[in-house]
Amino acid sequence: MRRTRPLLITALIGSLLLAPAAADASAGPPDAVPGASGVGDPYLPLAGNGGYDVVHYDLDLDYTPATRQLKATARILAKATENLSRFNLDYQGPPITSVSVNGRRAPYVHEGGELVISPRSALRKRVPFLVEVSYAGSPQAIDDPALGVYGWVPTDDGAAVLSEPDGARSWYPVNDHPTDKASYSIRLTVPDGVTALASGEPLGRAVSRGGRTTSTWVSREPTASYLVTVAIGEFTVERSRTKSLLNITAIDPKVSATDGGLHQTTATVTDWAAGLFGRYPFSSIGGIVDKVGVGYALETQTRPIYDGRLPSTSLIVHEMAHQWYGNSVSPATWREIWLNEGFATYAEWLWSEQHGGDSAQARFDRIHARPDTDPLWRRPPGDPGRDDLFTGAVYSRGAMTLHALRQTIGDERFFTLLKRWAAEFRHRTASTADLLALAEKVSGKELDALFTAWLYTSGKPARP
Ligand code: ARG
Ligand code: ZN
Repeated sequence: MRRTRPLLITALIGSLLLAPAAADASAGPPDAVPGASGVGDPYLPLAGNGGYDVVHYDLDLDYTPATRQLKATARILAKATENLSRFNLDYQGPPITSVSVNGRRAPYVHEGGELVISPRSALRKRVPFLVEVSYAGSPQAIDDPALGVYGWVPTDDGAAVLSEPDGARSWYPVNDHPTDKASYSIRLTVPDGVTALASGEPLGRAVSRGGRTTSTWVSREPTASYLVTVAIGEFTVERSRTKSLLNITAIDPKVSATDGGLHQTTATVTDWAAGLFGRYPFSSIGGIVDKVGVGYALETQTRPIYDGRLPSTSLIVHEMAHQWYGNSVSPATWREIWLNEGFATYAEWLWSEQHGGDSAQARFDRIHARPDTDPLWRRPPGDPGRDDLFTGAVYSRGAMTLHALRQTIGDERFFTLLKRWAAEFRHRTASTADLLALAEKVSGKELDALFTAWLYTSGKPARP
């Protein structure tokens, strides 16, 4: 069933386009209201939008590295969750050339990262609708004083996309919040000789015509907008198949002439992680190494991006662990970021422990030995604030929280919990309260004091 979904969606999009008259027939519900401009995220109030759920994004992108020009059309199949007189998309990309809803031109206002679209007739609750937005120009990365550079990042030979937390809007109109996951098809057209990759799996072979090459990538599983990636430039690509998983790695030859084991290590790490966390949640694996210049890696779905150098095994473990924790089980709000980074960091500790390195206990002890005045203890990771989403405590004290939990409930229950967390919230979003509830269920213990001390109380928590 799932394998055919993008094709069904393509057919559905086609029929919506061919039948605009059906949408015209009604003037729309009289009680229609404007959709909200955000989903109510405490850190990013304008991220995401209310009134609809996106089912599928179909992105057509034509990019020329030499001029940094993008010509694009985004087709968004969504379903209204209320009767809508108008609705918003998050968008901060190149100038828009046209907007239509169900095949009819629609008036729009584009201001301050919000694209407000007023369909000719109001949208009816539970009914699917198709939005088509065309745009052209030079996408700009977001450069945030606290979060750094993210979004669509032009590189010396192309571009790379790393959108956490809300950078997807820099390159396509989107309901930019993890609570609205969708499937994707992405068509990339670049000059012949340039390599283009995206997250997900390639659909058929690249086709060259008139000096430009087009490749298509499909993500069938639910995907959060910040995890969609595109990488364009010069790459040495390696492809193989391990069991049911396609493995695609791509390395910028200016970074390294060899792959330093990236391809094989990614496969090995994924196998190991599936043993601990349960079945891998997506259909392919891999990695992209590019000279991006942002100074961090991102766990882009199926195919993490590594910046500037070949990743260490530990970094591969971190980014692949995110495929379960972060990508499949995603944060319900950005306040829950420690659920991503604490788990991914703890996965590094587990890898080390199981491969002849330091034990998780030794790592915990080393950090716990830091003086009470260490800045690490100042900010508990459970509510770091928008500007400190990626602060050290979110990672290390987040991992320590999981270790303290393991100490408290014992190895057997802890490892059961890791699997059940991934299984019960697979392809969904979750919060710290969900984790607490599941941990209490699995262990039969009251754990709110532990969670409060480690996640929400400043100062060094006592050892468990
Ligand atoms: N999630 C990434 C990682 O832990 C870090 C992303 C940092 N993002 C940023 N805008 N600074 O691998
Ligand atoms: Zn991470």
